[in-house]
Amino acid sequence: MRGLLKKIFSPFLKKASAMYLKKRRKYSYKGISVWVEPTVFPPFITISTKILLDFINPLPLKNKAFLELGCGCGIISILAAKKEAIVTSTDINEAALRALKKNAEANGVNIEILFSDLFESLTGKSFDCIIINPPYYPKNPGSIAENAWFCGEDFEYFRKLFSTLPEFISAQNEIYMILSEDCDLEKIKAIALKNGMALNVVLEKKVAGEKNYIFRIIQL
Ligand SMILES: C[S@@+](CC[C@H](N)C(=O)[O-])C[C@H]1O[C@@H](n2cnc3c(N)ncnc32)[C@H](O)[C@@H]1O
Repeated sequence: MRGLLKKIFSPFLKKASAMYLKKRRKYSYKGISVWVEPTVFPPFITISTKILLDFINPLPLKNKAFLELGCGCGIISILAAKKEAIVTSTDINEAALRALKKNAEANGVNIEILFSDLFESLTGKSFDCIIINPPYYPKNPGSIAENAWFCGEDFEYFRKLFSTLPEFISAQNEIYMILSEDCDLEKIKAIALKNGMALNVVLEKKVAGEKNYIFRIIQL
């Protein structure tokens, strides 16, 4: 996948991929189908969404308060809702949130869908399980669509995430984040550590030569 993403960001293929992503496209998982609108993170050209879907599918989520932070097309949220979790989905991409409302209805599930810059609109709420598939390339996003890929030149996304996470982490809840060897894992771990948290690997999966990791975030 790493090679693929490098190609996507190469000037030559950037145009071709932009053309491909101009049309809304369908993405499906175990009987759930969603429309992925232009500007929304495309789960079909990366592997992270699928790895997370496979990861949460066997989890006991019934009646659990579940948050997908940065939900994109929201298929992970819909799977959690099908498993009878009480689901909240957030994003800063309005197109993603509008599409998720329709996708949730089409799949017969009820989800609380909120515009929220990380935890900004979630103050006072608590969650049993939080899933994060973050943007991780160190560049400043130049558009709404780019927020799905770029975390800011100085890892601003992670700095803000880990500085606000203490309000939402406890010994009882589970917070999972997917990252790959393609990103600066040491930098992200150092930001977590500075805020009193650590990343423990709970799953490692090699796809197309690239190692992907699901980390559980724990408080030290
Ligand atoms: C890599 S995509 C993952 C989408 C979805 N969770 C999935 O796994 O398919 C990252 C998502 O985070 C959203 N995002 C980026 N910065 C954010 C922020 N500060 N607050 C909330 N969401 C953000 C992006 O708009 C995008 O939808």
